[in-house]
Amino acid sequence: MALADFLASLDQLSEQALAAFAAAGSQDALESARVDFLGAKAGRLRQVQQGLGSVDKSDKPTAGKRFNEIKALVEAAFATAQENQTTGDNRARETLDVTVPGRPVRIGRLHPITQTIREMKDIMGRLGFTAVEGPEIEDDWHNFEALNIPLSHPARDPLDNFYLGVGETMSDSPLLLRSQTSTVQIRVMENAVANTPAGESPPPVRIISLGRVYRPDTADATHYPMFHQIEGLLIDQGVTMADLKSVLRLFCQSYFGDDNTADDEVHVRFRPSFFPFTEPSVEVDMNWRDAKGNSGWMEMGGAGMVDPNVLRAVGYDPEEVTGFAFGLGVERICMRQHGITDIRALYQNDVRFLSQF
Ligand code: PHE
Repeated sequence: MALADFLASLDQLSEQALAAFAAAGSQDALESARVDFLGAKAGRLRQVQQGLGSVDKSDKPTAGKRFNEIKALVEAAFATAQENQTTGDNRARETLDVTVPGRPVRIGRLHPITQTIREMKDIMGRLGFTAVEGPEIEDDWHNFEALNIPLSHPARDPLDNFYLGVGETMSDSPLLLRSQTSTVQIRVMENAVANTPAGESPPPVRIISLGRVYRPDTADATHYPMFHQIEGLLIDQGVTMADLKSVLRLFCQSYFGDDNTADDEVHVRFRPSFFPFTEPSVEVDMNWRDAKGNSGWMEMGGAGMVDPNVLRAVGYDPEEVTGFAFGLGVERICMRQHGITDIRALYQNDVRFLSQF
């Protein structure tokens, strides 16, 4: 066979093979094209190779070299075709049906307690009270001593507090999970005094603090070992009990009053009480008519005029300033507002419950 004829048949074969691979529309078609051209026994490339034997001896190196080149070319074309085939198949499988309704995105929401806290901050902010935070792990000074709760006071009982058992002995300045947010009053007044230049009197204070407190109560419908308080503190010249009642009434009105509740249907009532850090001290009750027309007195927490001993402990002069403080239970208010009857529901994190608020 003449060299020219051999080379021509090689060229023709590679052209046909490439066209066949490109045209194969499926895995099966491509496979039969492969057998047709590259089949080891009867493939067309194999047949052309047999022609190599009859090429003139002097032309054999040229013919053999060209054969190997074409064979590599056809094999590469097959590999490419096969790759395209697989990605093409995937693409076919992944077709997008734009008419299928989307998966609904579940929108998260704020915990009812968080909602209550934010609303309270808002209301008190409008009355000029700045929200501050304090640590949940407290020392004896801030939780008791500075609040006029002496060593012998029953409020320090280990059965009523979560002591953390740090320190050699119990009296060795123990740490505890704070049992009340009144600790923050002390921190704020101490800071104010510390930042006051010598010889000047410390500035007025008008703060609220909202946060968790801890008491070892057995959990039932109305108790939980962790709950939240809103603490308020106002220190200035000439602050009186009347200011305390006005602020609490405004707070109560803004929080509970709505379009259906007239202002004069929202009431605050004081009952005489005792707290070591206030004198006089009161229990605070609130009463309003809710959307369903229900009303009734509800115990909200404690309040009073800051005890001179407390002012002295942090460096304020009780001859110069007076102040009021209050501490209300956040859960109670939140539960009454939403008609929640079991405090434990707030902390079970059942989405069916939480998604209602
Ligand atoms: N700290 C008191 C309590 O937890 C509440 C309170 C705060 C009372 C401020 C008076 C003044 O019961």
